[in-house]
Amino acid sequence: MILGKLPLYRVWKARYGTHFKRRRFERIMKLVPLSSDHPVRILEVGCSSGKDFIQFLDGPNVEIWGVDLDDDAARSIQHSGFHFVHADAEQLPFDDKFFDLVVSIGLLEHIEPMEKLCRVIAEFDRVGVHQLSVIPSVSTIIEPHCGRLFFPRRLEKTMIGDQPGQILHLNFLSDHSWTKFEGFRNCQVTRLF
Ligand SMILES: C[S@@+](CC[C@H](N)C(=O)[O-])C[C@H]1O[C@@H](n2cnc3c(N)ncnc32)[C@H](O)[C@@H]1O
Repeated sequence: MILGKLPLYRVWKARYGTHFKRRRFERIMKLVPLSSDHPVRILEVGCSSGKDFIQFLDGPNVEIWGVDLDDDAARSIQHSGFHFVHADAEQLPFDDKFFDLVVSIGLLEHIEPMEKLCRVIAEFDRVGVHQLSVIPSVSTIIEPHCGRLFFPRRLEKTMIGDQPGQILHLNFLSDHSWTKFEGFRNCQVTRLF
C-alpha cells in the first residue's frame, strides 16, 4: 500500500508535517552536548530549503551555515546570519573542526557510490566537533521516500524499475551497519519515530 498517494496522507502531512519536524528537531538537539557559553557554529549539509532543521534554529548564540549542491532551494532561507555555501558534501570548504555541530537530515541515504558515502561521512567528522545524521532505518514501518508500508515492499518493480541493471538508489542499511563507517566511529545510534 502506498500511503503517500492517499489524499488523506497528503493533508495530514501538510497540516502536521511542521509539528513533527519540530518535535524531531527538539529530540535530536537533546542528543548533542553543545555548550552555550560561546556562539555555536552549526552546519547543515544538504540543507535544501531549511525546512527540516534550519527553520527551527534560533538565538543570538548560534551561527548557521548550509551546504547544498542545489542553491535554488537555499535562496528561500531567510534566517538572519545564515551563510550558504554551494559545495559537494564530499569536499567541504571548511577548516578541520570549524563547526561545533554538523547535521544532515535525509542526505546520506541518497549518496552513492559507497566510496563517496565514505568520503562524505569522513568530511562530517573532519569539519565537526560533533555530528548528527538522520537516516531512514532499514526496519522502518513506513518507507519515507514513497510513503509505502513495510520495508520489504520497497523492492517492488515500481520502485526500482524492471530493466536489467536498474537498482534502488537509496542506502537502506541496518543501524549496526552505519556504525561501521570510519567517520562514524564513536557515534551513538538512536531510533526516532
Ligand atoms: C532530501 S533533501 C534534504 C532536505 C533538507 N534537510 C531540508 O530541510 O529541506 C537532500 C538535499 O541534499 C542535497 N544533496 C544531495 N547530494 C549532495 C551532495 N553530494 N552534496 C551536497 N548536497 C547534496 C540535495 O540537493 C538536496 O537538497
